[in-house]
Parts: sequence; structure tokens; C-alpha cells
Amino acid sequence: MHINYNDPVLWLSYRFACDAKARNQNIEKKFLDFFKHHNHQLHLADVGAGTGANFRYYFDKIPQNQEWVFIEQDPRMIKATLHCLEKFAQDRDYRLQQNHDTLTISHQDKTAHIKLLQGTLDRIEHLADLQKVDVVTANAFFDLISYDQFEIFTRKLSENEVCLLATLNYYETSFLPFSECDHRFLRFYHMHMKRPQSFGIAMGRDCSEEMLDLLRQHHMLIEQEASQWHISRSNTAMHHFLLNFMEKAIHELNLVPEEQHDFNNWMAEKKKLCHDRLLEINVDHSDIFAYPD
Ligand SMILES: C[S@@+](CC[C@H](N)C(=O)[O-])C[C@H]1O[C@@H](n2cnc3c(N)ncnc32)[C@H](O)[C@@H]1O
Repeated sequence: MHINYNDPVLWLSYRFACDAKARNQNIEKKFLDFFKHHNHQLHLADVGAGTGANFRYYFDKIPQNQEWVFIEQDPRMIKATLHCLEKFAQDRDYRLQQNHDTLTISHQDKTAHIKLLQGTLDRIEHLADLQKVDVVTANAFFDLISYDQFEIFTRKLSENEVCLLATLNYYETSFLPFSECDHRFLRFYHMHMKRPQSFGIAMGRDCSEEMLDLLRQHHMLIEQEASQWHISRSNTAMHHFLLNFMEKAIHELNLVPEEQHDFNNWMAEKKKLCHDRLLEINVDHSDIFAYPD
């Protein structure tokens, strides 16, 4: 089967299983326990919603009825979400109805209403009613935004006494077998995450540390634990996705020719290992649940 490693929707569909396995069970329990005695429907806003992975992961786990707002900046993702949710409902024999801008998924006595909104984190208060939202969820998202954006967002959370469940916050990648140049090229990869962009500089691999600082400053109580991908030798599609991301990122850095040459050799070595099914990749992340004091 031909896989288009540049297709962002396909990438999210591949990473879903790795994320589901990596999500930290203690943090998940803290989140579910926090709302254990919540008698009404739970209001959730999912930022950087992609194709609704968080909803698809949590719908069955959250006992209450749910009202979700998906906030996603990329219209291609929003379009693909409808298809993903249809498949989600069909595979489980759940009912799905579409009414104007709201999707309703129901199963036995549980219902979720979902609004798909195109927009950015910076406008969250215009997209979701923060006085009503119980928890903002975000998966694989906060490395993409800046410290300043997160600070403004945290202030909004704290003012409205909203919880935060931030899972799969990127930290580090490592390869097995290890090679001497890994560190050198991973450093470039992490530099690329912090390249200047229209909104500023993304937090990149510093996201967990910076988020914890800011959440503490805004008097939120915090639980944090690790969530790690172990991408085994047989999962060559995930290896290819990750190597492809690195290759594109390094290319955009316009390295001097000798450096680019060394990188190309290093990349060819990794691809050969992947082809021979000898490569393993570990990716470290953190999961954070923060709640008002
Ligand atoms: C790595 S993907 C994760 C998607 C989804 N949460 C998942 O786990 O499959 C990050 C998503 O955040 C979106 N995104 C990036 N910056 C954003 C912003 N400032 N506001 C809203 N969405 C954003 C991207 O378009 C992308 O769909």
C-alpha cells in the first residue's frame, strides 16, 4: 500500500493508536475521578482538535453526557473530522445525527453533542463559553504554540476556573540502535520547532516545563506524568512519518552543504535500518492534568 507521508490527516490516523497506548493511565484516572460526582453533562473544549482524536478516545470513558467544542485552525482537518466520526459511530453501532453545525453521537443512554469550529486557541473565549466549560482538552498540541500564547490561555482558564487535560506534550526523541550523530541532528530538529513563525516562537520540546511554570503562576494545581511512544521495529509506517518530518524540518533550516551532507548520510542510515526492520524509535511526552485551587 502506498502511504502519503505528507498527508496530515493520515498522520493523525496513524498516531492515534500510539497515543492511545501512551496516554498516562494515572493522569487519566485523576481527570475522570475529578469529575466523578459531576451530575450534569460534561462540557469540554478540545483545542487543536485535528480529526477529533480526544473525543474518540474519551467518549466511552467519560460516564456523563458530553458537550464538546472542537477548535481547529485547519479546515482540511475539520472536513476530515466528519468522516472520522462517521466511521467511529459506524464501527461501534452508535447513532450519529447532523443538525446544522452540531453532530450528535449517542449510544444506549449516553449522548455527546459536538460543534466543529474553525479557529485558533487565541480566540477560545469567542468560540466556547468558558463559564460553562469544565475542562479544556488538548492532545499533541502545546509544543506548537508559544509561551506568550499559553500564558494568555492559562489566565483565561484560571479566571473561569476551567481544568486542563493536556496529553502527549512532546519532549524528546531517541533511536535504537543509537548512533553518534543522533544528538547533533535531533538538536537541529528541536531548533526547527523553535523557528520564528507568524505567532512567535513555539514552545517546542520545552512545552511541559513552561506550561507547568505558567499553570503554577496562575495557582492551578497540577499532576504530571510521562507518556511514551515505543515504536517497535515492525511499525515502519510510523518510522517513515517521523523520519520524513525530520527530513523536511532539517531541509528548511538551510544547513551549510557539509552539514546537510552529513545529515543526508545519517538519514540514509536510519532509513536502511527501518527498511531492514532493525529500527526502534522512542518519543517521550508528558501528560498534564491541571485544576483550579
Ligand atoms: C499534532 S496535531 C494533533 C491533533 C489532535 N489533537 C490529535 O491528537 O490527533 C495538532 C493540531 O493542532 C492544530 N493547530 C495548530 N495550532 C493551532 C492553534 N493555534 N489553534 C488551533 N489549532 C491549532 C493543527 O492544525 C493540528 O490539527
